[in-house]
Amino acid sequence: MSILRVEDLTKTYSSGGRELTVLHGVNFTLEPGDTFAIVGPSGSGKTTLLGLCAGLDRASSGSVYLNDVRLDTLNEDQRAALRNQHVGFIFQNFQLLPTLTALENVMVPLELRGEKGAAKSAQALLERVGLGQRGHHYPSQLSGGEQQRVSLARAFSNRPKLLFADEPTGNLDADTSATVVDLLFELNREAGTTLVLVTHDMELASRTQRIIRIKGGTVVSDTKERKNERVNE
Ligand SMILES: Nc1ncnc2c1ncn2[C@@H]1O[C@H](COP(=O)(O)OP(=O)(O)O)[C@@H](O)[C@H]1O
Ligand SMILES: [Mg+2]
Repeated sequence: MSILRVEDLTKTYSSGGRELTVLHGVNFTLEPGDTFAIVGPSGSGKTTLLGLCAGLDRASSGSVYLNDVRLDTLNEDQRAALRNQHVGFIFQNFQLLPTLTALENVMVPLELRGEKGAAKSAQALLERVGLGQRGHHYPSQLSGGEQQRVSLARAFSNRPKLLFADEPTGNLDADTSATVVDLLFELNREAGTTLVLVTHDMELASRTQRIIRIKGGTVVSDTKERKNERVNE
């Protein structure tokens, strides 16, 4: 049983008549309930890989199996439904909807699922991230760290099996980052979510159970394989 399996994944972008291959045959399998980091320098294809894993974008070749469902067999609506059911996201630039309050932002995934009592659940989540009093504020009225805490509340609102966090502290100062990261790991533990953290910050990555390093669009190391090698020695 895997929560995410990537097989020979490649991605080529074509823009302005030129082709750029960003991922060259990426393979890995993630087991449920663990924490993973995907690390690599800027431009190495991390965000592209995440977009493919979440079915936000289509691969040029290869397959992604999310919760044992092969994404390229689904149409766009089916992929959106799968995401809403199983996947949460945290982005570097928060990506809260600017015209909605903090509370309404957290309510969105709950309402998409047609859940009753969305406002009450969303309020409880805001309290969990320490923002119980700020529900009526718009994103522009919140600091970066506060916005990221709202996006944590939103990401966990559908109790996702899989949570993707793309450089979640990339726009935050060191102190604020530490608070957000502690909260992310706490919520992850409480919810039993599989966390996939994309980062170029090795200190952050070292808090996860397994680190997959990509460079130039290929996996260059995987701590799981290193552990296996040691076992085999
Ligand atoms: N939509 C796109 N069209 C063309 N090139 C792209 C597109 N998105 C990303 N790229 C290129 O793909 C490479 C990898 O980008 P990205 O996945 O964002 O890397 P990372 O997240 O590791 O910094 C970069 O060279 C980037 O310029
Ligand atoms: Mg990126």
